[in-house]
Amino acid sequence: MSFFYTAYMENVILNNGMKMPRLGLGTFMIKPEPCEKAVLHALTHGYDLIDTANIYMNERAVGRAIKASGRKREELFITSKIWPSDFKAKRIHKAIDSMLARLDLDYVDLLILHQPAGKYLEAYAELEKEVEQGRVKAIGLSNFYGKDLNKVLAKAKIKPVLLTVECHPYCQQKELKAFLDERDILLQSWFPLGQGDANLASEPIFLRLAKKYKKSPQQIILRWHIQSGFGVIPGSKTPSHIDDNINILDFEFTPEEMEEISKLDKKKKYLGIPVWAAKLFMPMIRMKYDKQI
Ligand SMILES: NC(=O)c1ccc[n+]([C@@H]2O[C@H](COP(=O)([O-])OP(=O)(O)OC[C@H]3O[C@@H](n4cnc5c(N)ncnc54)[C@H](OP(=O)(O)O)[C@@H]3O)[C@@H](O)[C@H]2O)c1
Repeated sequence: MSFFYTAYMENVILNNGMKMPRLGLGTFMIKPEPCEKAVLHALTHGYDLIDTANIYMNERAVGRAIKASGRKREELFITSKIWPSDFKAKRIHKAIDSMLARLDLDYVDLLILHQPAGKYLEAYAELEKEVEQGRVKAIGLSNFYGKDLNKVLAKAKIKPVLLTVECHPYCQQKELKAFLDERDILLQSWFPLGQGDANLASEPIFLRLAKKYKKSPQQIILRWHIQSGFGVIPGSKTPSHIDDNINILDFEFTPEEMEEISKLDKKKKYLGIPVWAAKLFMPMIRMKYDKQI
C-alpha cells in the first residue's frame, strides 16, 4: 500500500477545513446501557468519531462515555442530528440547548438535519447562526436527495460538509457520489453493513477476499467503503466487532477487485420509506428526549 493512501484515508479534510475521521462508531438502535459501553470501548480503542442523533435516545449515554473515556474534547469528533419536529426557528435553538446538556458538551463538531421534511430551509439558516456562535462547528445533511438537496445547496451560505445516506455494496450511490464530489461534499455511508445483513456478508466475493486478506467479510465491506472514498459509521455494541471495524487499514484491494464489488450494485435499499410519507409523518414524531437515562 502506498504511504500517500494510508495517510489520506485515516482523516478527511472537510470543505470547511476541519479534519474528520473517515470511520467512526454508529449508535442507531443501541439502548443507553450498551451504548455507553460501546462508545467507551470505541473511544479507548482507537475511535475518535461517534455518531448519534436526538431520536436515537442515547445522547446521555454517549456523553457519559465521553467523560469516562478521559479523552480530550479536541481529539474527538462528535456528531448528532436534529429531527424535523424541531426544525422551526423558534424551536431549534432550544433543541440544541437540550442536546448539548444531554451530551454534556459545549459544542458538537457536526450537526445534521436528519430528514428532508418540515421546515428544513429555516432550520438550515438557524444552524448557520449556530456555526457563527461556535456551538456547532459544521453542518451536515442526512437523507436529502434531488430537489430537496438542491434547494438547500442553492440557499446555503455555509456549505454542508457532508451528506449521510444509506450506502453499501447493494446500493452504491454512484451518481450521488459523483454529484457530491463535484461540490466537495463528503458522502458518508449509513447501514454500511446492510444493517448486519448476513446475505450481504456471505456474497462469494466477500468470502473470497476475506480469505485472501485474512479479514472478516464485514472488514472487507468496510474497506470497500473507505477505498471508495466514503465516510463510514458502522454500528456495533460488540467490542470485538468495534475493534475489527477499525482494523482495515493494512490491506488494499486491486482495481479488479474494486470492479468486481462494483458489480454487486442493484440500487437496493433496506430502508425504503416513500418520500411523501416521510414528509408527512416525520415532522409529527416527537420524542421526550430529556426523559432518556
Ligand atoms: N442518518 C440516518 O438516517 C441513519 C439511518 C440509519 C443509521 N444511521 C447511522 O449509521 C450507523 C450504521 O448503521 P447501522 O448501525 O444501523 O447498521 P450497520 O452498521 O450496517 O450494521 C450494524 C449491524 O452489523 C453488526 N456488525 C457490526 N460490525 C460487525 C462485524 N465486524 N462483524 C459482524 N457483525 C457486525 C452489528 O452487530 P453488533 O452490534 O453485534 O456488532 C449490527 O447488528 C448507525 O449506527 C447510525 O449511527 C444513520
